[in-house]
Formats: sequence, C-alpha cells, structure tokens
Amino acid sequence: MSADAVATIQERLDALGNRFEAAFAAAPTEHELRAEQAKLLGKKGELTAVLALMRDVPADQRPAAGALVNAFKVKVESRFEACLKALGNAALRTELEARPFDLTLPGRLSLGRGHVHPVLAVRDELLEIFSDLGFQSVDGPEIELEANNFTKLAFPPDHPATDMQDTFWFDSGVLLRTHTSNVQVREMIALAERVKQGARPACAIVSAGAVYRRDDDVTHSPMFNQIEGFLVDEHVSMAELRGVLSALAERLYGPGTAVRFRPSYFPFVEPGAEVDVACVFCHVDDGSRSSCRVCKTTGWLEIGGCGMVHPEVFRHTGLDPERVTGFAFGMGIDRIAMLRYGIPNIRLLFDNDPRFLAQF
Ligand code: DAH
Repeated sequence: MSADAVATIQERLDALGNRFEAAFAAAPTEHELRAEQAKLLGKKGELTAVLALMRDVPADQRPAAGALVNAFKVKVESRFEACLKALGNAALRTELEARPFDLTLPGRLSLGRGHVHPVLAVRDELLEIFSDLGFQSVDGPEIELEANNFTKLAFPPDHPATDMQDTFWFDSGVLLRTHTSNVQVREMIALAERVKQGARPACAIVSAGAVYRRDDDVTHSPMFNQIEGFLVDEHVSMAELRGVLSALAERLYGPGTAVRFRPSYFPFVEPGAEVDVACVFCHVDDGSRSSCRVCKTTGWLEIGGCGMVHPEVFRHTGLDPERVTGFAFGMGIDRIAMLRYGIPNIRLLFDNDPRFLAQF
C-alpha cells in the first residue's frame, strides 16, 4: 500500500467521527449513549475495523497513522464525556422542574390502628380508679438508692426479706428498684419538708411503674410492673385501708367482690397483710371451685400486699409517728392483667409478639 493508506485511514476516521458525533448527541439516555460508545470503541467495534488497515501502512508512516488514531480516540472520549454530562444535567433539570413530590398523599400500605398494651390499659384503669378515690398519681425513679428501696423502709441490713428481692446493682448503694415502695420514702420526705413549713401532715398518693428482680419463670419476669398506694394523715385506721381496697375490687371485678386480708410480714408495715380478692373465675359460693385452675381451688386470688405504715418508716422520713398514721399497699399490675385476660405466661406480656397483642 502507498501513502494513500494513511489518507484512507484519515477518511474512515472522519466518516466515523461524523456519524458518532451525531449518534452521541441523539442518544436519549445514558444507557443508549454507552451502547453507542461500545459500538465505536468496543472490541468488535468499528474502530477495530479501521485499525486493521494499519497492517497496510508502510513502516515509515505508521507513527503518523498511529497519531491520527490516538487523536481520534481522545476526541471521541471527550465527546462522550460531554454528552454524558449533558444527559445528567437534563435529568436533574427535569426532576427539579417536575411537580414536587406530595408528602401529604396517603400511603399505599394500610398499617392499621394500634392500641394500648394490655398492661398499660390495666395501669390506666387502676390510676383512674384511685384518682376517683382522691389519690394523686406521681412517678418515681427506677434507678434508686439502696436507702430508699430498703433501708428507710426499715429492712434491717442483710435481713432475709431482702433475699426475696434480689436485684440488679450498679456501684455500691445504687440499684434497680425492687418495688414501687421507694416512692413512699421519697414522698414522705417531701411531705415532712412541707410539714416543717406549716402544712398539714397528709397525702394520698399512688405511683405505677416498672420494678426489677432476679426472678424468671412463667409467673415472674425480671422486669414487671407494680402500683403502690399510701395515705398518711392524723388518725388513719386499717378500716380505711380495707375500704379503699374493697372499692378497688368492686370497680375492677364488679359489685360485691369480696376482699380478704391474710396476716403477712413486710418490714415497712405493722400490721401487714396479703390482699386477696374472691376468685373472679369461680365465685366462692357456687360449689364449682374444686375445678378452678386460676385460684387453684382456694376461691381467692392474691393481688398484693398492704398494711399500716411502720413507725420506723415515719421516723426515717422525718414524720412524727406520734402524730401521723397511714396505710400502704402494693400490687402487681401484670398479675392483675393476667387474671383479667386469662394470660397463662407473664413473658407473653413483654415479648411484644403482634400475634399475641392483636388479641386484645
Ligand atoms: N413492696 C411489696 C413487694 O413488692 C408490696 C407491698 C406490701 C407494698 C405491703 C406495700 C405494702 O405498700 O404495704 O413485695
């Protein structure tokens, strides 16, 4: 081949260049642009066919021919980049100029309505009953000083009663509260302060919340919920305690529901008692209780503990046990919920399995 070989290559490149410049400019999407580029520069692309002509170029003209091809490639690359950028800009402009996405449109997925967890439903019901009875609701901390959880409630150090309430400890002296009775201490200290300012030594308080113990079986969970109540005033008697708990039982389980006290020991009350309500599942007198599994045929369900505030607790919190008396009670909210809904395993309440929760 002669010097024409270089001229031929030049011609072919010019023709290719014109065609592809038009094809690049016309490509409507990045995908099509890349396809055009592959048609030109790819292994089996049209440029490869032109390169085959190099074989016919005389050795002395090869550098010149190579330079032509390289310049062509650079030109193609820069056209490609320019077109790519133009496509990106156009896409962005279209997006910005389009009508804005309407965030207020309703979703396509219907999520359904949730509802209050059974434990919280029972808690709210209890708080409402006590509110009607004149008790004020307060919150207490779950991370508490040993003093407020045990010592000021007259638990002697290392007394076996604290074994039943083994808990989770932080640094010495700080723990996860084992019961809501810590609120008694805090509120009585606050009351003592008010009394110093001349206030009457009286309060009626309830407090509901989570408590913690090292227990774990079908009826015990390491975290569970209690409600505490106490009333302090001059001349409070155990008859009033019974009255309040009877009113509670009737509101929870229906008029005439009986309440029973069984003597029991809690360090912070004297006398102290366990509170039972007549089994709502088998009524004591109808003779059917021999088969009741809920009350285990006793006819009674234990819902909590209660008693008259121990003078020691008044002394520890700065109130005068010669002047004031009071009653206190504490109940398991989860237990009341389990009894109410016939739930056999306490863990169901905390697993948050939608198949369980959807049943309420
Ligand atoms: N705090 C006790 C417990 O968790 C329950 C209790 C018993 C609370 C007697 C009281 C009470 O206020 O008077 O086991």
